[in-house]
Amino acid sequence: MARSSIRVGLLVLSSYIALFMLFQATPALAAKKNLFKTCESTPFCRRNREFADAASCVSPSSWAPPYAVDPSTVSFESGLLQGTILKTAPNSETPVEFLFQLVFLESGSVRFTVDEKQRMQATALPGFPDNLTQRRYNEASKWAVVGDLTPDTSASESSTAEEQADGLYKVKYGPEKQFEAVLDCKTLRIEFFRDGEAHVVLNDRRLLNMDHWQEKPAPAQPKEEGVEEGAEESEASASAAVPKGFPDASEWTDNFGGFTDKKPKGPEAVALDITFPGYEHLFGIPEHADKFSLRETRGGEGNHDQPYRLYNVDIFEYEVNSPMAMYGAIPFMQAHRKSSSVGVFWANGADTWIDITKPEVAENAFNARRSTETHWISESGILDVYVMLGPSAGSVYKQYGALTGYTALPPIYALGYHQCRWNYNSEDDVLEVDAGFDEHEIPYDVIWLDIEYTEGKKYFTWWKSMFPTPEKMMQTLAKRKRKLVTIIDPHIKKETGYKVYENMSKNELAIKTSDGKEYNGWCWPGESAWIDTLNPKAVDYWKDQFKLGKFCGSESNLLIWNDMNEPSVFNGPEVSAPRDTIHFGNFEHRDVHNIYGMTFVNATVQALQARQPRQRPFVLTRSFYSGSQRLGAVWTGDNAAKWEYLQVALPMILSHGVAGFGFVGADVGGFFGNPTTELLTRWYQAGAFYPFFRGHAHIESKRREPWLFGEPYTSYLRNAIRMRYQLLPSLYTAFHRASFEGMPVVRPMFLMAPENEEALGIDDQFFFGETGLLVKPIVEEGKVETDIYLPDSQVYYDYFDQTVYQGVGYHHMDAPLEKIPILARGGHILVRRDRYRRSSSLMSHDPLTLVIHLDKDGSAAGVLYMDDGETTAFSRGAYLYRFFMFSAEDNILRSRNMLPPNQISKSYDKTIDAVRIERIVVVGFDTAQLKKSGVVESFQDRKSWPTEIEVTEAAGGKASVVVVRDPKVLVTGDWSIQF
Ligand code: NOJ
Repeated sequence: MARSSIRVGLLVLSSYIALFMLFQATPALAAKKNLFKTCESTPFCRRNREFADAASCVSPSSWAPPYAVDPSTVSFESGLLQGTILKTAPNSETPVEFLFQLVFLESGSVRFTVDEKQRMQATALPGFPDNLTQRRYNEASKWAVVGDLTPDTSASESSTAEEQADGLYKVKYGPEKQFEAVLDCKTLRIEFFRDGEAHVVLNDRRLLNMDHWQEKPAPAQPKEEGVEEGAEESEASASAAVPKGFPDASEWTDNFGGFTDKKPKGPEAVALDITFPGYEHLFGIPEHADKFSLRETRGGEGNHDQPYRLYNVDIFEYEVNSPMAMYGAIPFMQAHRKSSSVGVFWANGADTWIDITKPEVAENAFNARRSTETHWISESGILDVYVMLGPSAGSVYKQYGALTGYTALPPIYALGYHQCRWNYNSEDDVLEVDAGFDEHEIPYDVIWLDIEYTEGKKYFTWWKSMFPTPEKMMQTLAKRKRKLVTIIDPHIKKETGYKVYENMSKNELAIKTSDGKEYNGWCWPGESAWIDTLNPKAVDYWKDQFKLGKFCGSESNLLIWNDMNEPSVFNGPEVSAPRDTIHFGNFEHRDVHNIYGMTFVNATVQALQARQPRQRPFVLTRSFYSGSQRLGAVWTGDNAAKWEYLQVALPMILSHGVAGFGFVGADVGGFFGNPTTELLTRWYQAGAFYPFFRGHAHIESKRREPWLFGEPYTSYLRNAIRMRYQLLPSLYTAFHRASFEGMPVVRPMFLMAPENEEALGIDDQFFFGETGLLVKPIVEEGKVETDIYLPDSQVYYDYFDQTVYQGVGYHHMDAPLEKIPILARGGHILVRRDRYRRSSSLMSHDPLTLVIHLDKDGSAAGVLYMDDGETTAFSRGAYLYRFFMFSAEDNILRSRNMLPPNQISKSYDKTIDAVRIERIVVVGFDTAQLKKSGVVESFQDRKSWPTEIEVTEAAGGKASVVVVRDPKVLVTGDWSIQF
């Protein structure tokens, strides 16, 4: 490299660092946009968009893309339909071959893969870089998928011989063979039918496009004078020579923001369109700060003009209402329409762009219906897409979870309140904050330390002058069963004498540059290297650092926060690692970019498991991919103390939830800036219902522990936090369901009312787990009333004063600052623990309260899951699972075991056999039906006894309330209460 360009490079580098630091302090949105690519500045995206535009300009019958299935190669056997796709390419005398497979899986999903034959071969391709793996990256599924991928041999061919002769292959599959896939070799369209109706179509618009390996072609025309090596060539000259969809010579390098990506494998993009016929609403593909129901992306009022992008980046103080990439990527999308849900999972870890359009499609001469068309474009990798046909939203989540795993059942303390800021500055500071909670009788479980606790941002060390005795600090916290979380990021300070770095470096466990040296960049510690956790040896190394004896100053109540794992590189392109850096397996970073953050958390989780095998680990991550839900919690990154960030948090949390990642929260209070007392109050009220509930603040924000603003605010925040703790038994039960069915904890309207299409776009209210509580947090300044939408005709009760609401549509509610608008849907039984304790673990043997909201017919039901809340014993059956049912037929409330007798854990039940149901609250009971006045009759173990009740009659629009005090029944037993 010439001296002048080194100087320019250094300048660019230092200006990036300066810029980044500046943004950390004073966010400037417009300038930030230029740090990140748009589709136009991303050649493979722009080119595939143009390909789509070209297709839409001509009639479908005259659109002639260069791909076709060779019908003579198609075969079906044992659940696998496969064959060869031929691509006619300029510069290639014979068609380029791609192998496709349709694998019918037992879980009911179908996997469609396309790979490039020449790159699958053992013999080296002429000109292919010999330091890189020749095959296209095909391991996204390896990281994301834990389910069984062997074909379901019961899938059967359903096409006739004539149809096959005509190039039509049909396969019936699914648990009841209610699904059918139809491949049309002539068009290469693959339609997925459920009960005779098409729900998902792959390559409907015939936008399948996969670049193939070829040596860099000569530019179509000589370069203009004065254009430097590596600079972009004149687009017009280069593209004139190649047909639409094919890369021109300029795509063999990429220049963006002063960085050059050498692209040694050349362009290798992969693109496909996926249509959802008759569906208008799509959800998922987090992470974006946008509406829950995804918008169109090709312009028009209220739409975006950029595709949704999945590329994990450190996008501090992100814009709201934007399709821009954020910290994490889950390429899973759900489509929902009246009583029907389907899903697709695009298993690719590279930079991915998704265009969405919703055209009206003529059904016949009189009718048109809207469909949704999507166009997925990734930079590299194989084509690997999974199709799930539902039919319900719940079954789609189950199918997706059967592939990528379910939310790990968290330890119960992780569902309590977390107190964080950048930074708690010393041991005294930590212990004072800890004591502050007790003084103000506010429960909390975990206090967090941000990067300043370390010696010079060197992880696994402590800043001795401020944290001289971390063990003692942790032991003090442990007395009240509280935990400490410390941050540990993947950048490792490059410093002589820092053993964590030295040994990592010596053993070559870091990400490498394109020429095989250790890659160094800048992050919090200054010059750093990044541990390559795709490498199993690096995982072992990482595990070693956490050992109880080795990680000095750490105690058994220490848990971990993994941040900056996109990875964030202050002086890297788009604030991340260069795409041509190299990972274990000789794959480029571009191939695994979106997966890297998950591999890092995976290593940390393994480390915690190895350190304390009996304990459930807890790790919070900022970056994530499909499958991260198996590892811990996630939060939505650096928001700001402004109302629009409180507003967008909820659609974001809903999006994570439907994409399998239920354990999610947003920084309560807003990370940047200082919230007003009103905003802070409203944020705690909303945050109390986030699956992950943590207050956090930037280093320059004023202190804002919940008692610092005086009354009435301390009481408002205390009430919100205490309400969270009251509801922990039901919240934990919801997490249990997420852990085996993938059901989100915070649920959108369509999960309760799947047939109500009007409610599909509603994303400012939600159902909270199993409770039936419909929560609509106030997220606008000065608002003291709201309209809450009832998605069905069930009866609803104000949770606090039992006012009755009924009828589909909006209903008005008062919402003064002290009130969270919550309605309880009739038909549900929730379980609470009402006594204030300092932390969740101290509640583990407290008595329970059942709150029963009767439905319009007078019945209700609910479940309760309990275990020891911390260890892995639950996975060996040490838990309790009960079903409560209030029947309108006989007005009896029954508690029954959900487990078959041989699965009941006597050992666990013994530990809680003194846990009573101390109160039962029944809302909406027709008190004229009470068998006896003033008492109910309780039955357990063949005995019966009367229990006094307190009755408040229905009046003034409010439902009746019957409170049974201390019925003397136990949570472990079967019992009944006759009303
Ligand atoms: C960025 C994270 O998003 C933020 O939460 C954290 O406080 C800072 N890094 C410092 O570690």
